Amino acid sequence: MERFFGIVQKDKAIIDEDFHHLKVKRIKKGQQIEVIDRNTFQPYLCEVEKIEKRKALCKVLEQLPKNVPLVDITLLQCVPIKVSTLDEIIPPITQVGVSTLVPTISERSFQDPKVIERKIPRWEKISLESLKQCGRHQPLKIEKPLKLEDLKNYLPSEGLFIFPFERENNQTLGKVLKDAQPSQKIFIVVGPEGGFSQKEAQLLEEIGFIPVSLGNFILKAETAAVVASALVYNLLVEKLKET
Ligand SMILES: C[S@@+](CC[C@H](N)C(=O)[O-])C[C@H]1O[C@@H](n2cnc3c(N)ncnc32)[C@H](O)[C@@H]1O
Repeated sequence: MERFFGIVQKDKAIIDEDFHHLKVKRIKKGQQIEVIDRNTFQPYLCEVEKIEKRKALCKVLEQLPKNVPLVDITLLQCVPIKVSTLDEIIPPITQVGVSTLVPTISERSFQDPKVIERKIPRWEKISLESLKQCGRHQPLKIEKPLKLEDLKNYLPSEGLFIFPFERENNQTLGKVLKDAQPSQKIFIVVGPEGGFSQKEAQLLEEIGFIPVSLGNFILKAETAAVVASALVYNLLVEKLKET
């Protein structure tokens, strides 16, 4: 079923800001659609009652269950030198179930926190489009940029901390997650194009991050972010089903 953002009040829904999308999808009066309330992200099954010049009016038929991430993953992605590369990472990490993205500044990443911060509204918008497409009813939280050297102060005392590291040969995600609890918060730090410096890899291990291999090939940073997040999500959801 087609999904649109709107405003829901009691048994009525209005699609205004997302009206163009509704027109592109050629939705007609009488059709059933899903309307996601843009304030609460609650989905509703609705029937289109009237199509006006700039908005569509709908009748709410029923409230639908929310489809939200089942495990809590925070991805700390070192910002690529070409900052716009992060635009490409946001849709797939939204789709594979990452809850929080922290743009992270490392030795070989893009450095200016002000420029990164200014991009956040754009990234939120990109993520919302992806959220609508994939049927997720909880937005990706995008936090302010964080310096890798300040990571220790950012982290909670409990959780599972991992960093994909191409120089790690033995430890795989499967091994590391074997004893993990699906209720644990998971923090994943992925390096930029140039990778982590030796000093950074050492610092990450000192503060409790476990290096993991994602295979015997070097992945692009954006591929590594999606692969690591999807593997962690699916391995933990499998565990959740077993309990
Ligand atoms: C493009 S890679 C860095 C590669 C590094 N500059 C090199 O040439 O060896 C960017 C990030 O992706 C992750 N990564 C890429 N391939 C990986 C692999 N095979 N195993 C684990 N992590 C990997 C790491 O976090 C790395 O810092």
